[in-house]
Amino acid sequence: MTKGTALITGASSGIGAVYAERLAQRGFDLVVVARDIDRLNALSRRLSNDNGIAITPISADLANTADLGRVLAKVENEESLTLLVNCAGVGPKGPLLGSGTESLDQMVQLNVEVLHSLTVTAAKTFAARGRGAIINIASVVALMPERFNPSYVASKAFVLAMTQALSAELEPHGVQIQAVLPGFTRTELFDRAGIDINVIPPEMIMEAADMVDAALAGFDRREVITIPSLEDVRLWDEMERARTSLAPYLSLRHAAARYADGRSA
Ligand SMILES: NC(=O)c1ccc[n+]([C@@H]2O[C@H](COP(=O)([O-])OP(=O)(O)OC[C@H]3O[C@@H](n4cnc5c(N)ncnc54)[C@H](OP(=O)(O)O)[C@@H]3O)[C@@H](O)[C@H]2O)c1
Repeated sequence: MTKGTALITGASSGIGAVYAERLAQRGFDLVVVARDIDRLNALSRRLSNDNGIAITPISADLANTADLGRVLAKVENEESLTLLVNCAGVGPKGPLLGSGTESLDQMVQLNVEVLHSLTVTAAKTFAARGRGAIINIASVVALMPERFNPSYVASKAFVLAMTQALSAELEPHGVQIQAVLPGFTRTELFDRAGIDINVIPPEMIMEAADMVDAALAGFDRREVITIPSLEDVRLWDEMERARTSLAPYLSLRHAAARYADGRSA
């Protein structure tokens, strides 16, 4: 029995490389996407030898329109595709005010626009087939906007909102979607951003393998949102209850009484 094919972006290192390994062990064939083709080829050789699965490495700079187009075409046309893992992403090099606008724009392009295009394409393709699943790597910073670079926080809040909203639309079509919210996870992300991971308290850093194993356990339970380090899941449930309890008051004909003084005479 084949599980079909999983396409993983950002599979050359870190969280994406662990997903590749775990999904290969689960019997998925793989399409692995990143810029570094040497690392993708090495990963593909190792995982196909160890697991007897088929792996197609695709060298693509997802920020490049033509490269992204090739990957979108693969998502649309690969009949065996049953899972998309959106893992490619970059972190910020520091606070917003000290960052170049161009580098922030590039981060938002990869973390938001690329993920959006791939998610929309996979959602439509899978919904038409009545099966499939999407895993989007967000971040806990989506829940702590005051503490990190605003552009990065907003990019991950986009992933969370997109996933939550799309889950409702996809469910009747038999398509599963999950947002994973990792905390600090030991990967190359910090080196790439020029940040010394040793300044972060070690008790706050999870190993990438532990993070992905927890996220896949959440996926198996069909969680829409998975926060790997959150012990007491009632805290999340309470937050969701508080959020949804706002619903009856968010769109009404009249402004709230406390704004009545602002009306011009
Ligand atoms: N590490 C953490 O603490 C942490 C916490 C929360 C969320 N996350 C999220 O987890 C995801 C994976 O990051 P990671 O921590 O595993 O970091 P990583 O080891 O740096 O992995 C990033 C991956 O994205 C790929 N990538 C970067 N730019 C790309 C581009 N333009 N086109 C195609 N692929 C590109 C990289 O491959 P190439 O360089 O070969 O292209 C690499 O495979 C990201 O979305 C990140 O925001 C990480």
